[in-house]
Amino acid sequence: MSQSPAVPHPAPNGAAPTGDGTPSRRAPWPPDPFSYLDGRLCVGGLPLDEVVADTGTPAYVYDLDAVAAAYRRVAAAFEPLGARVLYAAKANSNLAVLATLAGLGSGFDVVSGGELVRVLRAGGDPEACVFAGVGKTTAELELAVGHGVTVHVESADELDALAEVAARLERPARFAVRVNPDVEVDTHVNIQTGHDEAKFGVPVAVAHELLARAARGELGGLIPVGVHVHVGSQLPDPDGVAAGARVGLEVLEAGRAAGLELDWLDVGGGLPVDYGGGTAIGPERFAAALATVVAGRDVRLAVEPGRALVARAGALVSKVLYRKHRSAGRMLVVDTGMHHLLRPALYQAVHRVRPLRAAPLAGPTEVVGPICESTDVLATEADLPDLAPGELVAFLDAGAYGMTMASNYNGQPRPAEIVVADGVARVARRRETWEELLASETATGASVAAIQGPAGPLGW
Ligand code: LLP
Repeated sequence: MSQSPAVPHPAPNGAAPTGDGTPSRRAPWPPDPFSYLDGRLCVGGLPLDEVVADTGTPAYVYDLDAVAAAYRRVAAAFEPLGARVLYAAKANSNLAVLATLAGLGSGFDVVSGGELVRVLRAGGDPEACVFAGVGKTTAELELAVGHGVTVHVESADELDALAEVAARLERPARFAVRVNPDVEVDTHVNIQTGHDEAKFGVPVAVAHELLARAARGELGGLIPVGVHVHVGSQLPDPDGVAAGARVGLEVLEAGRAAGLELDWLDVGGGLPVDYGGGTAIGPERFAAALATVVAGRDVRLAVEPGRALVARAGALVSKVLYRKHRSAGRMLVVDTGMHHLLRPALYQAVHRVRPLRAAPLAGPTEVVGPICESTDVLATEADLPDLAPGELVAFLDAGAYGMTMASNYNGQPRPAEIVVADGVARVARRRETWEELLASETATGASVAAIQGPAGPLGW
């Protein structure tokens, strides 16, 4: 558990050797905007309790300068390879976060029409977007094709559906084949995606067949561009990405041999963060591993980092509601839980918990939410002071897969989202209201026409 001293603070994040020849005194990775100043937990220099004063809690707080710094470091690491950075919007699709990354020139990896409209609303360039996912609907394919998004096709049936949409819209559609490379990586079983039983992508043999169909001219209206691979998330080292890229490259070369002009090799995401607060393997090591794979192969490389760009830039700020003392030890009940931060319940993930006001520590504390599930435990052994009702805590490294996985379970509105940039905090999304939770329902039932939501085609 936490090895915090008497006055707690996020772990030091000292620079670590990278082992790849890059300078060992490199900045901590990812950049950490949260630190104690005069005993108050601050973000970007602002005391967090002031940042959440207007919205109240629970509230997600994201430091956009830290997101930008993380993007710049990834982009710089991959620049020598000429690689495109496509931010995986599923990690955090807050409009302000997306707009920050769009402004820096990032492309985007989306997995739904809902994510794509967010990227468009945030000013993202659809031509710099890719659309992955095993279950794309016709409406989603239409939206993507209509905007010139490259579709990462995950089955033979989907390829037929895409060809049908492209023909109907009379728009040529670029596609890459998502290959399941049958590569195992050492990460939590729930976030492994490249082993052969996974639902993602198609086996190598099927990928060859799909590209062969394209080479035979059977897919008029579609433009094959290459291959997509994603082996998993929170990777322990670059080996899995490199192995996946090798398999992807084989498929790409086979397509070229069949006469196709393929050059797109998207190797997915998976760049990790250290949830203990330390420095993780930096993007330079991933770039170095991929450089040896693609050297001399004349491909346009793309990477899809999600977590590495946003996890450490975000925290979930919450208020202590009650103290409970049980024979098993101390317990705090807070005003957030698995409905707002699902990762501990779903992956036994550990998020550091820190008080907003530093105080002497009182020992291991279980931190639980209000949800009627035994798994609604956000921390089993947080090293916290003896906090009283009304005092605030922050769950750190919560900027990725936090709000995007939040739900309304138990009738709970989702939190506010606040962004900090240049020393100023702004509300990017207000807290949901109870009225909004009821807005799309009637107790008596109604015809679809009578209960229609905001107008259909959004003009996207
Ligand atoms: N590309 C594809 C095709 C993906 O499926 C994912 C993540 C990414 C990129 C981004 O991966 P990242 O760089 O963030 O590791 N909810 C889980 C993570 C699920 C990841 C799903 N796919 C968590 O909270 O750990």
